Amino acid sequence: MRGPALPLVRRAGAALGPGAGQLEKKAKGKLQKQICQVVLDHFEKQYTAELRDAWSSVRFSQNPGLESSLAEQGYHPAFPAALPYLPAALRCYSRTAPGRFPAQKHQPGRLKDYYLLNAASLLPVLALEVKDGEAVLDLCAAPGGKSVAILQCACPGHFHCNEYDDLRSRWLEQTIESFIPAPLINLITVSKLDGRQIGDLQPEFYDKVLVDAPCSNDRSWLFSADPQQAVLRLMQRKELSSLQFQLLRSAVQALRPGGSLVYSTCTLSRAENSDVINLILNSCRNVMPVDLSGMARGVSQEFTFLSGMQQHELLVLPEKGRAWGPMYVAKLKKVSST
Ligand SMILES: C[S@@+](CC[C@H](N)C(=O)[O-])C[C@H]1O[C@@H](n2cnc3c(N)ncnc32)[C@H](O)[C@@H]1O
Repeated sequence: MRGPALPLVRRAGAALGPGAGQLEKKAKGKLQKQICQVVLDHFEKQYTAELRDAWSSVRFSQNPGLESSLAEQGYHPAFPAALPYLPAALRCYSRTAPGRFPAQKHQPGRLKDYYLLNAASLLPVLALEVKDGEAVLDLCAAPGGKSVAILQCACPGHFHCNEYDDLRSRWLEQTIESFIPAPLINLITVSKLDGRQIGDLQPEFYDKVLVDAPCSNDRSWLFSADPQQAVLRLMQRKELSSLQFQLLRSAVQALRPGGSLVYSTCTLSRAENSDVINLILNSCRNVMPVDLSGMARGVSQEFTFLSGMQQHELLVLPEKGRAWGPMYVAKLKKVSST
């Protein structure tokens, strides 16, 4: 069974599709039939158990209203349908014309229809290649965009979403409440741990780990409203590499042999990207790089990558007219315990 097919919609650009969250819909002023939440929840439980994969294809065919409304507004599917890395349930739409897609307000107990996401943020999720039944850890998960996308790619056996920061952890919980329907919620554990400790706490437990690390976040730093705070951040920038390295080391420890991890940041800074990965490769002999060049080729129409990168990494460059990137992605595999 796959996760909920929620549309990712990118402002002036990208991502998610229709699914269980579409309880009621008005497409361009036309009132659509409303789905009854209590019936949907019941169906989810019963048909997931009885029909498995067949149920996910049935429920994903619900509610074409959002898709046609998106098409009328100039949104188009963000990736080629034949992309081997792209699960059918992950419906992503992008638009090159500038403009803002309206965000939906959080309403307790009510699922949302779509998640607005930087299109490049899907690449770490696709690179992770989560399979049904796997134990998955999202080490730095808030606000939860990639967690939602992971659940659209597959149905993990266990999904641990961790966020250290108190406030952001509440935000993560809201995201999960807003996007994940009842039967899938039971698969998810949310924790507020320092990600650096999880390797010690749960050694060799996970098949897949996403380390979407705290980083310089070039795009948001550039628009800092407070210059003094911006200067302070820039001064502290050097310390981030050490935190990123420690998070990665913890992730390696948390992986079972044969498992793999994806490391991502939204900065162009080499010190936070390739240098951190090289340090891990040099210090952990049981970790091997995984080739991402096939995936990069598959999405090369949507994204511009920095040339000259190694095969296990890619860096999406921000481009004029496209409101996404930077995004660095690297993939590693743990080959043995030590
Ligand atoms: C780039 S953001 C994650 C974005 C998230 N993956 C998403 O797609 O919505 C990095 C997150 O790491 C959290 N963080 C910082 N230090 C951490 C630590 N030691 N352990 C776990 N998370 C940490 C930050 O609070 C921040 O929410």
